[in-house]
Amino acid sequence: PFEAKVDSILSLMTIEEKIGQLNLPSAGQFTTGQATNSDIGGKIEKGLVGGLFNIKTVASIRDIQKIAVEKSRLKIPLIFGMDVIHGYETTFPIPLGLSCSWDMPLIEKTARIAAIEASADGINWTFSPMVDISRDPRWGRVSEGSGEDVYLGSQIATAMVKGYQGDDLTNNNTILSCVKHFALYGAPEAGRDYNTVDMSKIRMYNEYLPPYKAAIDAGVGSVMAAFNEIDGVPATGNHWLLTDLLRKDWNFNGFVVTDYTGINEMTEHGLGDLQEVSALALNAGVDMDMVGEGLLTTLKNSLDEGKVKIATIDAAVKRILTVKFQLGLFDDPFKYCNDDRAKTEIYTKEHRDFSRKVASESIVLLKNENEILPLKKSGTIALIGPLANSKENMPGTWSVATKLGNANAFLDGLKTVAGDQVNVLYAKGSNLDHDLEFEKRATMFGRDIPRDGRTDKQLMDEALAIASKSDVIIAALGESSEMSGESSSRTNLQIPQVQKDLLNALLKTGKPVVLVLFTGRPLAITEENKNVPAILNAWFPGTEAGLAISDVLFGDVNPSGKLTATFPMNVGQVPIFYNHKNTGRPLGNSEGKFEKFKSNYLDVRNEPLYPFGYGLSYTTFNYANLKLNTTNIDAQGTIEVSVEVTNSGGFDGKEVVQLYVRDVVGSVTRPVKELKGFQKVEIKKGETKTVTFKLTENDLKFYNSNLDFVAEPGTFRVFVGTNSDTKMMTEFELTN
Ligand code: IFM
Repeated sequence: PFEAKVDSILSLMTIEEKIGQLNLPSAGQFTTGQATNSDIGGKIEKGLVGGLFNIKTVASIRDIQKIAVEKSRLKIPLIFGMDVIHGYETTFPIPLGLSCSWDMPLIEKTARIAAIEASADGINWTFSPMVDISRDPRWGRVSEGSGEDVYLGSQIATAMVKGYQGDDLTNNNTILSCVKHFALYGAPEAGRDYNTVDMSKIRMYNEYLPPYKAAIDAGVGSVMAAFNEIDGVPATGNHWLLTDLLRKDWNFNGFVVTDYTGINEMTEHGLGDLQEVSALALNAGVDMDMVGEGLLTTLKNSLDEGKVKIATIDAAVKRILTVKFQLGLFDDPFKYCNDDRAKTEIYTKEHRDFSRKVASESIVLLKNENEILPLKKSGTIALIGPLANSKENMPGTWSVATKLGNANAFLDGLKTVAGDQVNVLYAKGSNLDHDLEFEKRATMFGRDIPRDGRTDKQLMDEALAIASKSDVIIAALGESSEMSGESSSRTNLQIPQVQKDLLNALLKTGKPVVLVLFTGRPLAITEENKNVPAILNAWFPGTEAGLAISDVLFGDVNPSGKLTATFPMNVGQVPIFYNHKNTGRPLGNSEGKFEKFKSNYLDVRNEPLYPFGYGLSYTTFNYANLKLNTTNIDAQGTIEVSVEVTNSGGFDGKEVVQLYVRDVVGSVTRPVKELKGFQKVEIKKGETKTVTFKLTENDLKFYNSNLDFVAEPGTFRVFVGTNSDTKMMTEFELTN
């Protein structure tokens, strides 16, 4: 609908102004240790900037927008971006935690609230959702995605895009979404961030691309190109990826932005000088250049030398102008600059209450021996650990807009929820880590856990002294928030040793110990699983952390979170994921024993510590009567799968009922199980609910060797249960 208007602006633009629209500098408000841009105001005035990011507040954004619409020749408004990843000033759990809620309306609402707050602060574009599938917890950015599964990941991608963009982008409280990092960024070799990715097309199509596609189908307005290479060509310069797949096959008609200096980095990748790689990026399908100014400084020469065509530049400019029209910026460039909204719509009580609820839904109960949990609201609790009294670490990685000091520390939340009948004692117990240098890296960006000058022994003695006075010990241990996230890969997936020593000393007291784990990735907590009677995985819960964790600890909320990424026994099992192939030499019925000449390890069994989909409740759920309404379907048919789930324990609760399918014989090898349905149901104690799923031929389709999306006739197994390890199974046939 905006084509004529866009064309008429384009016809007025000089080549410099056109190239200027493709330029996205960073205002540098949240940039530490990375390249930045200079003379941004001057460039805006000359029409050399299309958008700006890393800037917040109505006042600052209004000032900058004024330069664009009052001082530049064509008065084209800017768009303002930011990494609004899991909330804005009100933060929600890190995305990996959020995904463990398996609750799409809830996830959509987190994005809606983030959009309301960001747009009330002047921002109209978020670099989210991050939908990179990852099966490698060494990779620090596993914290920012939705785990290892494409089916769940695709639903979450859709929910997030809907939450940010709503039905109408012209509303002043919806914002443009940007799906990232296109593509395959979650599969770097050895889990090292920014490392090489190399993957077969068939794996790409079946196991990594669907969530990006889901975001496109949901109408996402922009796409961020990934740093990594695909088939030897960095995503930022990859024509197959950005044009053939994204635009031609998937019909994407928004714009593509690079990641931070993504174009410049192609020089380091070995693809030529800045002019060369900038032309490559534009020709591949990039429209906007984040920070690097490669397009700004070289495109004119490339045009003169015939390395790029004016039509390609025009197409990119048009896409960006179109989005500005879609947002309504030409009608009112200051529509997101409303001082009243900034005062009344950010970090509201309502948003924070919702954050508390969401966080409690994302927490995963990993172990609960002898029903230690829920705790009683009486007696003395010793809360011990370096994560117990930190506000700064609760929002988690990539929460740039939050005010770190606002967050609710575990200790504060515990005292509030416990009430007057509980005596809460606190000791730090240990530093985060022994290694000072590591600790410094792990507490960047103001997320310090101030190092305690006392020796390990002094810290531990204090902890043991309060432990001896308590009825129950809560150990708040794990990672600091900057131990995961961008550029935070790890080769050791354990809790830092100094904290493990503390935990072992606490266990030796003989008192009941509950481990509350803070982490941005699956950790190898095999030893803890063996020795600690109760383990609650809190992830990084967001601004209302302490309250939400305590709601769960005391049973005000019965935990219902389920893991969306497999927890390994040790780092050597990585990558480990539930939907693997069978291989030609799978284990027989070995019950955990080693089998020579079969696909297994000498030193550890194949099974993970906790499988995908795993998570306990304070109650128990029994599954019975798995039934199909028919055992044959054809291409037009629908099969109904039903199962009875009984809450057989002592608490009302929620269960995520999961359905997996195995395609038994195929033209190519197929995974041993694939998630194809789930329902989160609330079941009262003593109650039985029948949960019904519908499957059609579409659910049985996959990409074959020709990359055709097909369903092949034959036998399919259906598994239903409480996690991906379920053995409850039945079969049906797909007929021709
Ligand atoms: O959006 C991010 C991206 O995920 C990683 N590099 C920087 C971008 C902008 O901050």
